[in-house]
Amino acid sequence: MTVQPHKPLPAAFDLNGKHALITGGAGLLGIEHACALVETGAVIVLTDLDENLLDQAVIEIRSRFPESIIHSWKMDVTDKASILSVSERLRESDIDLDILINNAAIDSKVDEHGNIENGGRFEDFELDDWQAQVDVGLTGAFLCSQVFGPPMAVREQGVILNIASDLSVIAPDQRIYRQEDLPENEQQKKAVTYSVIKTGLLGLTRYLAAYWGEQGVRVNALSPGGIQTSQSDAFVTRLTNLIPAGRMARKNEYASAVQFLCSDASQFMTGQNIVMDGGRSII
Ligand SMILES: NC(=O)c1ccc[n+]([C@@H]2O[C@H](COP(=O)([O-])OP(=O)(O)OC[C@H]3O[C@@H](n4cnc5c(N)ncnc54)[C@H](O)[C@@H]3O)[C@@H](O)[C@H]2O)c1
Repeated sequence: MTVQPHKPLPAAFDLNGKHALITGGAGLLGIEHACALVETGAVIVLTDLDENLLDQAVIEIRSRFPESIIHSWKMDVTDKASILSVSERLRESDIDLDILINNAAIDSKVDEHGNIENGGRFEDFELDDWQAQVDVGLTGAFLCSQVFGPPMAVREQGVILNIASDLSVIAPDQRIYRQEDLPENEQQKKAVTYSVIKTGLLGLTRYLAAYWGEQGVRVNALSPGGIQTSQSDAFVTRLTNLIPAGRMARKNEYASAVQFLCSDASQFMTGQNIVMDGGRSII
């Protein structure tokens, strides 16, 4: 279905004239965040590691919002020089950034066979994997906030949104990742990094919200629950049994929260975390 952007909106949600940079923007949720903000009028600066992925993402966003204005620029959130070069490109293009969404991650995800990508038992978790995942998910958010936040503080307006997870407020329940045919010492586990990164993002959120509060830069977190994609049926059933809503999320269900958190609709809210997880974290 094609939806035209710039429909009449409640004024507080209107992002016309605003520029939003999304990290990890070519991934599953990055595209959804972009669509959410395009729908409310923002111009998007979509960034990711890979130009091909970015091109595909732009095609997907334009197929849903043909009039969207998107700059798609390569940016590695672990590399300060790469972030600074995007900042320079913004300056050359006369773009003042209004919104930063720290979304990039190397996630530990379950595939159709029930295997966990980027997972690992705590006992054997490699330091290199820890470092690589923390570099993207946590240090990347620190570096992007450090580069893009100060100009917002100078202009006395801006929004930073950190994408955390329901696992920022609860521990992973490792039983849902079990594979019946594997011995105990080969059972895969949700990575320790995931908990540490997502919980750390809440600390960064509160720190920066307090730090820049008087300069009009608001910093909040969104904690989505798991989105159903191609995970194995066994995993989906076990996870669903832990969710009061009785299902995993659909990829477009966070759009309204992104629109709220990135606009004046949330203007008196900073340092907070919205947990949208079908109730998973309440039981
Ligand atoms: N998908 C879910 O079910 C879910 C649930 C809760 C939270 N989240 C969070 O939402 C965010 C997006 O998740 P997703 O499902 O879209 O993941 P995804 O893997 O589809 O997208 C992540 C993107 O980050 C990019 N990336 C990786 N390293 C990077 C780097 N060094 N610099 C720049 N970009 C880099 C990847 O290329 C990828 O496009 C993540 O922070 C994730 O933890 C996802």
